[in-house]
Amino acid sequence: MTSGPDFYDEAQVFDTYMQRRQRPDNPNDTLEYPVFMELLGDFRDRTILDLGCGDGRFGVELIARGCGTYTGVEASKRMVSAAQEPLASAGGVLHHASIETWTYPQTKFDLVVSRLALHYVENITQIFGWVHHTLKSGGRFVFSVEHPVITSDNSAAVGSGVRQNWIVDDYFVTGRRDVQWMGSQVTKYHRTIENYFTGLQRANFTVEQLREPQPQREFIQDEQLYNRRLRIPLFLVVAARRND
Ligand SMILES: C[S@@+](CC[C@H](N)C(=O)[O-])C[C@H]1O[C@@H](n2cnc3c(N)ncnc32)[C@H](O)[C@@H]1O
Repeated sequence: MTSGPDFYDEAQVFDTYMQRRQRPDNPNDTLEYPVFMELLGDFRDRTILDLGCGDGRFGVELIARGCGTYTGVEASKRMVSAAQEPLASAGGVLHHASIETWTYPQTKFDLVVSRLALHYVENITQIFGWVHHTLKSGGRFVFSVEHPVITSDNSAAVGSGVRQNWIVDDYFVTGRRDVQWMGSQVTKYHRTIENYFTGLQRANFTVEQLREPQPQREFIQDEQLYNRRLRIPLFLVVAARRND
C-alpha cells in the first residue's frame, strides 16, 4: 500500500508525472482544467485553500489572476520542494501537511479547491466535514477527482502500450484500490458518483454542479486523441456551496 504523497515522492514517478504534465495534449489541461475554471467562477479577492496543491502552479496562476489570498496544503516532499519558491515569490502560503491531519482554521476561506487529490483520501466524509468547518458561510468548494468508472477497476490498464479498453467492475464495492500507474503502485479510493453527491449533502453542502468533462475539439489538436477521449470520462468535477 503506497499513499498518494509517498507515490509522488518516488523519483521516477515524480519525473514521469512532471513530463506528462508538459505534454500539450495532457488531459489535466485539456479536459479537467477548462471545466474546473468554469465551476470556479469569479475568484478575484477570494481567500482560497487548495488541498493537494502539487507543484503550486495553480496557486501561482490564481494569485496572478487576482485571488485575495492563496494557501496550499501538500504532503509530498518533492511536490513541496517544487512549489516552495514559485508560491513564495507570488505571495502564497504553503503548508507541508496531509489533507487528513492539517489543522483547518474555522470559517477562514471563501473558496476551497482540490484538483485530483481526493481520490487518494480514504475518509472523504471527514474531509467534507473539515471543508465545511473552514469555509465561511456561503463559501464554495470546487474539486475534481478521477472519475468513478476509472477508479472502479484498473485491470485493463496493466500491460504495455496505449490502453485500448476499460473495464468498469465492482462499481458498488467502494474503498481501497491498489493500482499500477506510471511504473509503480499507488493506493486510491473508489467511490460512486452518488457517494460524492450524498456525502456533500450530509456534510451540509448544496451541490451546485456536477460535471464529467467532455473533450472539446479546440483544446485537443490530435484527432485520434480527440476520438479516444470521447470513449470514457476521466474526471468528475463538483461545485458545492456551504449551507449555514
Ligand atoms: C495528481 S496530483 C495534482 C496536483 C495539483 N492539484 C494539480 O492539479 O496540479 C495529486 C497531488 O495530491 C497530493 N496528495 C495526495 N494525497 C494527499 C494527501 N492525503 N494529503 C496531501 N496531499 C495529497 C499528491 O502528493 C499530489 O501532489
